[in-house]
Parts: sequence; structure tokens; C-alpha cells
Amino acid sequence: MTKIAHDRLIIIDFGSQVTQLIARRLRELNVYCEIHPFNKVDDAFLRAFAPKAVIFSGGPASVFTDGAPMPPKVVFDMGVPILGICYGQQVMMHCLGGKVERGHGTAEFGRAYVAPTEDRDPILSGWFEDGNEQVWMSHGDHVSEIAPGFRVLGTSHNAPFAITADNKRHFYAVQFHPEVHHTPKGAKLYENFVKLAGFQGDWTMGAYREKAICNIREQVGAEKVICGLSGGVDSSVAAILIHEAIGDQLTCVFVDNGLLRLGEAEQVVSMFRDTYKIPLIHADESDLFLNALEGVSDPEVKRKTIGRLFIEVFEKHAKSIGGAKFLAQGTLYPDVIESVSFSGGPSVTIKSHHNVGGLPEKMGMRLVEPLRELFKDEVRALGRELGLPAHFIGRHPFPGPGLAIRCPGEITREKLDILRRADAVYIDQIRKHRLYDEIWQAFAAILPMKTVGVMGDGRTYDYALALRAVTSVDGMTADYYPFTHDFLSETATRIINEVRGVNRVFYDCTSKPPGTIELE
Ligand code: XMP
Repeated sequence: MTKIAHDRLIIIDFGSQVTQLIARRLRELNVYCEIHPFNKVDDAFLRAFAPKAVIFSGGPASVFTDGAPMPPKVVFDMGVPILGICYGQQVMMHCLGGKVERGHGTAEFGRAYVAPTEDRDPILSGWFEDGNEQVWMSHGDHVSEIAPGFRVLGTSHNAPFAITADNKRHFYAVQFHPEVHHTPKGAKLYENFVKLAGFQGDWTMGAYREKAICNIREQVGAEKVICGLSGGVDSSVAAILIHEAIGDQLTCVFVDNGLLRLGEAEQVVSMFRDTYKIPLIHADESDLFLNALEGVSDPEVKRKTIGRLFIEVFEKHAKSIGGAKFLAQGTLYPDVIESVSFSGGPSVTIKSHHNVGGLPEKMGMRLVEPLRELFKDEVRALGRELGLPAHFIGRHPFPGPGLAIRCPGEITREKLDILRRADAVYIDQIRKHRLYDEIWQAFAAILPMKTVGVMGDGRTYDYALALRAVTSVDGMTADYYPFTHDFLSETATRIINEVRGVNRVFYDCTSKPPGTIELE
């Protein structure tokens, strides 16, 4: 079976905070690209990668520091177009015979305006139609002399060489960041670059589906594959794709840990077993999980207990299907990008996210990860390509530890039951008001306290609920969603009227940071 090839671009990462955005802009242009840290890209690697074009990202370093990050030497001799951004521009000039100066008094951070020179070039097609262009700068050092062969196409107040080009070699270098939102014509610049580099825009979900199916068949052969299904978009898309490739060699395991939302288990089971006809083990292990969690209130202990039990249950069922050699996971590209860290150490663990890491080695299994090259929105596009229903593809993310981390303090079956019903009313309200797709994630949490209320003529002493809704692009940062007062009061009233055991509702107005999305 031959692998289907597509044009590839490599982004050499010098540690910019926004390198991933370069990849986003390129993927939007149907260009396949990968990000690799500069210290992992040597001449041999680059030759083997055989990129059709190269981009140097920005980065926090200075070309003057000892051991300053440098690209591999061969990159300038491969005859492929290069685009250097910010530090990428400086390093390019430094390597090719130009000069960089320290930025005393000439640093630029934030919005700036670039004016065109007399010299026009196709890399700027669509630029300067309405005068100067807004760009986003973030640099200390700057280029003070361009390398031989380069021309200046644009200047800003503090960057006389804001846009430079060497058309013979198709080397382009800019001081600003075209990948960010605040450079409105930035996407056009990338479009021009990939056009000049000869990309066909062949990275489509249809092509990806075909390629992924070939690769799965080739990797798995006649062996059995097992896939842990959480009911989330990633594992579902992975399972459906793998099933399309190898049919009933795939078995899915859906573990009901007693921490799922109202009706969730039934929905997942019916979709996979009845609609997609994928062999599915529905493991109802709620007693096992809930008994183990009795009396546990520490969030990390909850996560670890759930993770450990999940592995145990999964292992038990994997054995029952007669020796699967492969484990399928819905790992995404942001999880595998190895970014350059200048902080000098591992980052602090805020929460130990639950996954099945460690399982493949322990069970002697190999991984099948057909979504490893995709971003979240590309997984959704692939889901649409595979015919998954729109309401399923657009589902809000749901954490592995489930309702356990939406029930701060001790978990009881009574609290879980109240929480499930209240959450269903809240989500129903959001859907009725057509707000679901504007929100990244919305859920109710049951607080570890009871409060006094009055209903009818009687005193109540019931649980308080927190409602949470956030907007976000990747879950890393988030803003709380600005519901109207009418929406909030209508929702609070409905929850208190419809769910026995709740007499007070709060709305969480914390963004992330300083909060996190989940309460634990
Ligand atoms: P936080 O609460 O860290 O959440 O701001 C960011 C995103 O991750 C989800 N989340 C988890 N997902 N296992 C998961 O699979 C976990 O332990 C976990 N904790 C948080 C959360 O729902 C949000 O989408």
C-alpha cells in the first residue's frame, strides 16, 4: 500500500509564544506543516524531511548571546523558499551576511504601521491597498543592515527593514508577526508565501481521510485494536476512522464510571453500537469507581484514583477480547508538539490530567494515533467528513474524571444525582437560547455546602450550585461567558423549581487565569 504524499512545510521553532499560530494559519490554507524545535533539526533531519518551504519562527533569544539558537547550515542551500519572522528575520540576516543591532531605544512592542517602499513584490500582493498596514511587533534587537541580495519592501517607525526579500532565492524576512490577529493582512502574507513556494493546497480532510486509512491498514495488518471511548469528539472520530479502515478488527470499550452526565452512556452506546455498528463493550463499573471515591475530597487523589481504576478496567476488558496488539488513542497535534522551553525546567503541574498513558507499555501494546497530525478544529472537520452528526461534533469538552471534579469535596451518589439533573436543565437553557455553539464549555458544579432558603412557606436547607460557562480557543486561557441577567435569573429559577435538593445558584465570573475551567 503506498502512502499518499502531500507537500510539506517545516516551521523551525526558536521558542516564540505564538509558533502554533503559524501552523494554524498554514493549515487554514490547506498546507501541511510541522513544527520542530531548532535544536532537534540538523542537516540530516532537514534533508530527510524534504520540505517544499521553511519558516523560521520568532523567539526570545538574541543572536548576540552565546549559543544563540541557529538553523541548520544546509537550510540556505536547499533551494527552497524561506520566510523568517522576527527572531527568524534576525537570524537569517545574521547567517547571510547582514547585521543585527541590540535594541537600545528601538525596541517595538505592540501595534505598529508599515509603509511600502517603491519596490513592489508578489509577496505583498493585497497589501497596502488602503495605505499603510497595521502589524504586530515584539522585538528588542533589530536588523541594521540587510544581507546581500535582499531588498527592502516595507518600513516601520522603528524597523527600517520591516519587510525584506531576496527574490532570486525566494528568501523573505519580516520583523513583525504575521501570524497574530493584530496583523490583519498577516494571513494574506502567508498565502502569498505558500503560493510563491508552489504549494497546491492539497491538505484537505478528504485527502487526510484516505491517507489515514491507508496508514492504519499498513500499521495494523490483521491484528486486533482496542480503543477506549470516552464519548468525546477525539476518541469518537479516531474510532470511526479506524473502523472504516479495519472493520471489526476494532473493539471499543466505553467505561461507565458513574461520573457521566444524564443520559450520556445511553447516547454513546446507541451511536456506536446501533448507528455505526462498531463492536462495543459497555463496561458498567460505576460501583467500583464510586466505592473507591467514598470519603475522598482531595482533587489530585480523585484524579489518580479514577486514572488507576480506568487502567484496571480497561486492562480487564482488553484481555477479554483475546489479545489486542494495538491501542487506539485520540491524541492531537498540540499534545505532541515539542516546544522550545527557555524557562529551564518542567512547568508546574496544576492538575494531573487523566489519560491512559503508561497503559501501552504495561500491556505490551503499540499505539494507533490517527489524529496525531491534527488540531482540534481539523478533528471536527474530519468528523464531518466521516458523517458524524453536527450536534455530536460540536459537543463541549468533558474531562476524563467527569463529574468527580465538578463536585468539590466528598462525592456522594445523592450529590451526583442532583448535579446531573441540574446540569441537564442548565444545558437545556443554553441550547434553547441558541448559545451552545458560542460557548467553549458550560457545566454546573455542586458546591460542598448547604444554605438556608425559603420555599412556599417552609424553610429549606439544601445544596448550592455554581454555573460555569467560558469562551476559549484551546482551553489554555478562557473568559467567563457574559450571560444576560434575564438568562441567569430564568436559569436559576428553572433549576431550583425542577431539581429537588438545590435552593441557591451562583454564576462563576472567574476567567482563566486566575481560575481554571473546572473547579478542581
Ligand atoms: P482546566 O480546568 O485545567 O481545564 O482549566 C482545561 C480543559 O481540560 C479539561 N480537563 C480535563 N480533561 N482530564 C481530562 O481529560 C482531566 O483531568 C481534566 N481536567 C480538566 C477541562 O474540562 C477543560 O476543557
